[in-house]
Amino acid sequence: MEYCKLQLLGIVSLMLVLGNTQGWGEDGHAITCRIAQSRLSDSAAEAVKNLLPKYAQNDLGSVCSWADRVRFYLHWSAALHFADTPDNLCNYQYDRDCKDQNGDKGRCVVGAVKNYTDQLLDYGKDTQYNLTQALMFLSHFMGDVHQPLHVGFTSDKGANLVNVHWYTKKQNLHHVWDVNIIETAEERFYDSNIDDFTNAIQENITKTWSNQVKEWETCNPSETTCPNKYASEGINAACQWAYKDAPEGSVLEDDYFLSRLPVVSLRLAQGGVRLAATLNRIFG
Ligand SMILES: *[C@@H]1O[C@H](CO)[C@@H](O)[C@H](O)[C@H]1NC(C)=O
Ligand SMILES: *[C@@H]1O[C@H](CO)[C@@H](O)[C@H](O)[C@H]1NC(C)=O
Ligand SMILES: *[C@@H]1O[C@H](CO)[C@@H](O)[C@H](O)[C@H]1NC(C)=O
Ligand SMILES: [Zn+2]
Repeated sequence: MEYCKLQLLGIVSLMLVLGNTQGWGEDGHAITCRIAQSRLSDSAAEAVKNLLPKYAQNDLGSVCSWADRVRFYLHWSAALHFADTPDNLCNYQYDRDCKDQNGDKGRCVVGAVKNYTDQLLDYGKDTQYNLTQALMFLSHFMGDVHQPLHVGFTSDKGANLVNVHWYTKKQNLHHVWDVNIIETAEERFYDSNIDDFTNAIQENITKTWSNQVKEWETCNPSETTCPNKYASEGINAACQWAYKDAPEGSVLEDDYFLSRLPVVSLRLAQGGVRLAATLNRIFG
C-alpha cells in the first residue's frame, strides 16, 4: 500500500516536472486561443463551435493545453511541439530542422501546424480525420511555434537543460519562458488575473501594434498558414532575448523579467492573431 502510494506520488510528480516543459504553460496557451477566438469570422466561429468538444462550452481557450496532456500516451505527438536548430546558428530551415529524433522529415511543430491546417480544410466533407482533434492540435501548436524556445538549440533541448534561478527559485530557462515570465507578470501587474493580462494584450493589438497586425496575418497567397516564418522569428527571438544574458547558472531577476515580458506579450499576441487568421482562411 505505502509502496503503491509512493510510486503513484512518483509518477504524479514526474508528470508535473515533465508537464512543465511542454510549451507555453496552461495560461499562455489559453491567452493565445482566447485572443484567436475573439477574432474569428462568423463562419469560422461557427465551425469552431461545431468542432469543439461539448465540455469546452465553446471556449477554445479551455482545450488549448489538451495536446500537452495527451502527449504522454500519444507518444507519436511528442516531437510535434517544437523544432530544434543547430546550436548557436540562430536561424531555422525547414529541410534541415523539421524532423524528429529518428530523422523523419516534417515531424516538428512547423510540420504539425501544416498537417492540422490541411486536415481542417476537409471540414464539411467526408474525412478520415478527427477534426475535433485537428482543431485542438492546431490551436496548441500555433501557440508553441510562437514560444521562442520551442525553436531553440538542439543540444540543450530548447534550453530545457539550461539551469538558472528565477529570482530565488531553481528553474530551467525553457520553463521560465513557458510559465514564469507570464506568471510573474500576472502576479505583479494583473492581480493574478489571466483575463486582465489577456485584455491588456488585446488592447495593444488594437493600439500599439495595430499597424503591424496586417503583416502578422499575411502569408504567401498560396498558403493557408505560414509556420516557417513563425519559426524563423522564434529562433531569432530565442537568440536575441531568451538565451542572451541567461547562461547556465545565472540568476534572472527584474532586469531580465522586465526586458523580456514585452517579447512574451508580443509572441502571445502574434500567436493569437495568426491562429485566427489561419482559421478564418480555413473556414472561409
Ligand atoms: C498528422 O496528423 C496525423 C493525425 O493526427 C498524425 O498521425 C501524424 O503524425 C501527423 N503528422 C504531423 C507531422 O503532424
Ligand atoms: C475525436 O476526438 C475527440 C477528442 O479526443 C474524441 O472525444 C472523439 O470521440 C473523437 N471522435 C471520433 C469520431 O472518434
Ligand atoms: C502595451 O503597450 C504599452 C505601450 O507600448 C506598453 O507599455 C505595455 O507594456 C503593453 N502591454 C502589453 C500587455 O503588451
Ligand atoms: Zn506544446
